[in-house]
Amino acid sequence: MQQDITIIGAGAAGLFCAGLLGQQGFDVSVIDNGKKLGRKILMSGGGRCNFTNMTVEASNYVSSNPHFCKSALSRFTQWDFLALVNQYQIAYHERDHGQLFCDNSAQDIVNLLQSECQKGNVKFQLQTELQQINQKDNGFELITSRGTFNSHRVIIATGGLSMPALGMTSIGYKTAEQFNLPVVPVRAGLVPLTLHKPLLDILSPLSGTAIMTQVSTVSGVTFKENLLFTHRGLSGPVILQISNYWQSGEAISINLLPNTQLEQFFADQRESSAGQSLKNILSKLLPKRLVECLIQLEHIPDIPLKQLNIPQQKAVIETLTNWQITPNGTEGYRTAEVTLGGIDTDVLSSKTMEVKKIPGLYFIGEVMDVSGWLGGYNFQWAWSSAWACADAI
Ligand code: FDA
Repeated sequence: MQQDITIIGAGAAGLFCAGLLGQQGFDVSVIDNGKKLGRKILMSGGGRCNFTNMTVEASNYVSSNPHFCKSALSRFTQWDFLALVNQYQIAYHERDHGQLFCDNSAQDIVNLLQSECQKGNVKFQLQTELQQINQKDNGFELITSRGTFNSHRVIIATGGLSMPALGMTSIGYKTAEQFNLPVVPVRAGLVPLTLHKPLLDILSPLSGTAIMTQVSTVSGVTFKENLLFTHRGLSGPVILQISNYWQSGEAISINLLPNTQLEQFFADQRESSAGQSLKNILSKLLPKRLVECLIQLEHIPDIPLKQLNIPQQKAVIETLTNWQITPNGTEGYRTAEVTLGGIDTDVLSSKTMEVKKIPGLYFIGEVMDVSGWLGGYNFQWAWSSAWACADAI
C-alpha cells in the first residue's frame, strides 16, 4: 500500500507538519524510533519549553546561507505559533531577551501538537527506526526496523545529533549523501566549552560561580549574558551562545566587567582606598576567588593599589575587559542543545523545503543547516520550516 506522506521524526518539526498536513486531508504517517512523541520538547527549557521568542530575525540563526531562513520565518512567525498556544489556553511567561516559556510544563506543547495531529487523523509508528530510503517510480521506499513501506512523499524531520541518549541518528545526513546532496559538516552547538588541564586546575575553585560578562569571538561576534565556571570549563548562556560561532583553536575574549567604567573606578579607589591591596579593591567588583585566580595566573599583580603604576593599571584593565582564553574543545553532543551544519540549504527550496532536484523529498527542522541562538529560536525554526513545507504540499 502506498502512503500519501510519511514524516520521519516525531519531534517538533515532524509533529507540527503532520498535524497541518493531516488537517489538509492528506493521509499522513509519522515514523519515530522512540517510545514517546516530542521527547526533546519534553526536556527543553528545563521542562518548561522555551517555545519561541518575542523577536525573531534571520540574524538569530547560523547557516551557510543566512538568507535561507527568511522566507519561512516571515510566513509563519512567532505570533502565529503564539496564536496556537493561546487557542489551547496554554499559560506562558516571558523571560529575559523575549524568551517565552510554558508556565506549567513542556508537556503542554506536546499535547498541543498531539491534538493537532489527532484532528488530522495522523497515524504513528513509534519504536520504528528508518534505515534507508530508496527512490521509486512513484515515490519512495522506506526500509525500517519494522519492515518496508512505500510513500508518495517523504519529509525528513530527524533533527540533529545532540543528546545521543535520546536515540538521535544520522539518517538524515546519510540519506542526503545517498542522494548526492551536500551536507555542511556537523558539530555540536549551544554547548559548554572545555579548558586545558593547567588552566582548569587554577580555575577549579570557581566551579559553580556565575558572573555577568560580555564574550566575543575573534571574528567579532559578541554576547552579553551570564558565564558559569564549571568543573570542565565554561558554560552559562553567554558561552552556549558564543559556542555557535567559536572555531576550534581560537581564543575567546571575556570582558569580566562589561557594566563598569574601570578608569573611573580606579580613580575613585585611589582617592578613598589607595592603601588597600589590589585584590581587595577588585573584590568589590568580582568574586574574591576569581581575583585570586587571576593573581595566580599572573594576570594581576598582588600589590597594594598605591604601588600600581599607570602602565600596570592599563594592563589590569586590559585583563579584566579582554581576558583571552583558548578553550580546548566543547563538551560535544552529550550536552549540546543543537547540531550546527546539516543538509546544505542550497539544494532546498526556501519556500517549500523540498529538495530542488528530487520532487517529493523534503527536509525540515534542525536536520538542515539552520541553527538558532539560545532563546526559543530552534523551536521557531521547527515550526516555521514545518509550516512552509505543509503549505507547499
Ligand atoms: P527533534 O530532535 O525534536 O526530533 C527528531 C526526531 O526524529 C526524534 O524523535 C528522533 O528520535 C527521531 N529520529 C531520528 N532518527 C530517526 C530514525 N532513523 N528513525 C526514526 N526516527 C528517528 N530549542 C528551543 O528553541 N528552546 C528550548 O527551550 C530548547 N531546549 C533544549 C533543551 C535540550 C536539552 C536540547 C537537547 C535541545 C533544546 N532545544 C531547544 C533545541 C530543540 O529541542 C531542537 O532544535 C528541536 O527539537 C529540533 O526539532 P526537530 O523536530 O528538527 O528534531
